[in-house]
Amino acid sequence: MRLDKLLSGLGYGTRSEIQKLARAGGVELDGAPLSDAAARIPVGPDLPERLRIDGRPVDPPPGLVILLHKPLGVTCSHKEDGALVHDLLPARWRRRDPAISTVGRLDKQTSGLLLLTDDGDLLHRIISPRRHVAKVYRATLARPLTGQEGAIFASGELMLEGEVKPLTPAQLDPVSPTEARLTVTEGRYHQVRRMFAAVGNHVEALHRERLGGLALADDLAPGEWRMATVDEIEAVFA
Ligand code: URA
Repeated sequence: MRLDKLLSGLGYGTRSEIQKLARAGGVELDGAPLSDAAARIPVGPDLPERLRIDGRPVDPPPGLVILLHKPLGVTCSHKEDGALVHDLLPARWRRRDPAISTVGRLDKQTSGLLLLTDDGDLLHRIISPRRHVAKVYRATLARPLTGQEGAIFASGELMLEGEVKPLTPAQLDPVSPTEARLTVTEGRYHQVRRMFAAVGNHVEALHRERLGGLALADDLAPGEWRMATVDEIEAVFA
């Protein structure tokens, strides 16, 4: 790919800004200055080791998957008011094309495992209802469980308010009288909160622990992120 196209897609500036940068010696490939913005660059996973911009490894090329421990109080959106998940990533990454999107959404007041990617096919494979990727949430409830919830959630007959199609079966695993793990395979709007509301309870805190076979990594504190490994991406579908 042409250097100017590559770098403008990664958010480093317009093509003419990249031309100036290259002419000024700000781009190095394999240790040698690269002044020609039209030069063809081999784009592979080793790109950040080979290409340096102002002395620093270039950002990862398209096809990235980010694991984020979403903190409370940030919104999964590109452009709403207030704190956004994208604010947790480097500012330049907002200008990338293809854009980085969240894989599904977590509510502002939900914490836990969130993936972000610029790979549209992967995103759709994970959120497609046909794939049945399990999402495991830990919910803290305002009132003790009654013991009826597990059967209601597993029935495949629970209808959420305002909807016309019942929920597919979900699995409840009580953790304490007022805490439970809930495994769902759909991603309806405010689904977990509305499920507990449908059985007369109220979710006070909600945290996503797992997506498919991928658990939220222990090394990520709230607000922290890192690139997912190939094995971690595969684990989502395991
Ligand atoms: N269900 C909810 O109610 N909220 C979330 O953020 C995720 C699932």
